[in-house]
Amino acid sequence: MSSLSDFPAGFLWGVATSAQQIEGATDEGGRGESVWDRFAATPGRVADGSTPRIACDHWHRWREDVALLSWLGVRAYRFSVSWPRVLPTGRGAPLTAGLDRYDALVDALLEAGIRPLLTLDHWDLPQALQEEGGWSSRSCVDAFTAYTEAVSRRLGDRVSMWVTHNEPWCISHLGWEVGAHAPGRRDAAASLRVAHHLLVAHGRAVEVLRRNAPRAEVGIVLILSPIHAASQGAADVDAARRLDGSLNRWFLDPLFRAAYPGDALLDRVRLGQLADTSPEFMRDGDLACAAAPCDFLGINYYSRNVVRAGAGGEPESVRVAPPEALTAMGWEVYPEGLEEILLRVQRDYAPRRVLVTENGAAWPDGPGPEGHLADPRRVAYLRAHVEALGRAARAGVPVAGYFVWSLLDNFEWAEGFSKRFGLFHVDFATQRRSARESAYWYRDIVARGVTEDVPGPHNARRSP
Ligand code: FCB
Repeated sequence: MSSLSDFPAGFLWGVATSAQQIEGATDEGGRGESVWDRFAATPGRVADGSTPRIACDHWHRWREDVALLSWLGVRAYRFSVSWPRVLPTGRGAPLTAGLDRYDALVDALLEAGIRPLLTLDHWDLPQALQEEGGWSSRSCVDAFTAYTEAVSRRLGDRVSMWVTHNEPWCISHLGWEVGAHAPGRRDAAASLRVAHHLLVAHGRAVEVLRRNAPRAEVGIVLILSPIHAASQGAADVDAARRLDGSLNRWFLDPLFRAAYPGDALLDRVRLGQLADTSPEFMRDGDLACAAAPCDFLGINYYSRNVVRAGAGGEPESVRVAPPEALTAMGWEVYPEGLEEILLRVQRDYAPRRVLVTENGAAWPDGPGPEGHLADPRRVAYLRAHVEALGRAARAGVPVAGYFVWSLLDNFEWAEGFSKRFGLFHVDFATQRRSARESAYWYRDIVARGVTEDVPGPHNARRSP
């Protein structure tokens, strides 16, 4: 059992969402098209053929959703601003209507005693910028800086925690190297430019935020995962090193050491993705900019990776867990990995503070008889991860918050609506939100700060 005493005073128990996944109303209020609108409208890209056009209709139901947050009692809410709502073509004069809504949301959260954690880039790049090359083009860095300027000028007086990008690896690798996410490119060389521009844009945005929100805390969110070799054989161990280099260290090293990891750079040269270890797109001063000191590192943790050497020694995922230990995403339930990655990041990079900015699991648990929403696997998943977090905190990792992904079932990117991560079940036909058992469980955690089960509170089914 973990107890409240494991976590520092003021620990931020929260939940997370992102604009593209919940807002819907994609053509209202002058909003521009995003790369995800375009991607989802392309046949064959999203598993269930769905689009984010309506999603959770949060754009219209945001007050109801703030009430859910209040009911949960969370101390913080991580959400993202939709870039094409503020700047429909990515740059130019900001649309007041888009900013007004986020302004109202922030005020409503503060009034409810919930601290807003605002993510600027949760993947919904304006399509107009994509037409100019998107993140593969250096001009996107300037566009992001101007967007950060617009949002922080308006909200910098009230939002006290800012995230620049969410999971740059997903943009560069899933979006540009393997093409599973928007913009659906398969161009490994371009993906390295994308990653680099994201890092530089982060550094530039930090400068802007320091000016427009001088009292706020600023950070970036990475998806991190322990990489385990399937065997102790040299080839498998090297495959694990390679994946660690491209997934974890490719972002951690520039952010904390102002340098790309040397071995991972050489891997890319060997693969023909970089001509040499200092390509022209990495300009002088870029890495110093990317390494601008931050107040926290956001870590999204879902699972570990076990790999062996595939063709040419390239890392190839191996499934070691039995089917019952997999979530609906096919991700292994591996809570020890959260503790492992937190200890490793602390040892190797020593961020000032760490927030677990996403953690959660998808299972298709729908309503049972009488509408009861039992999701024991999600409760067990969350409990085990909170315990792992408590162990890391006891070991000295400066963890300052934990955010469950997600408040609501939502548009799960290339999986569409087929994968449900919500503490609240959403009936997409009626938009009715209903608390799952896990929502009651989390409400107890937030209120009492212990993970043990107690008879009472969360069994007393007082609905939101
Ligand atoms: C993360 C994303 C988030 C959500 C979860 C399941 O990679 O940041 O938007 O889709 O995965």
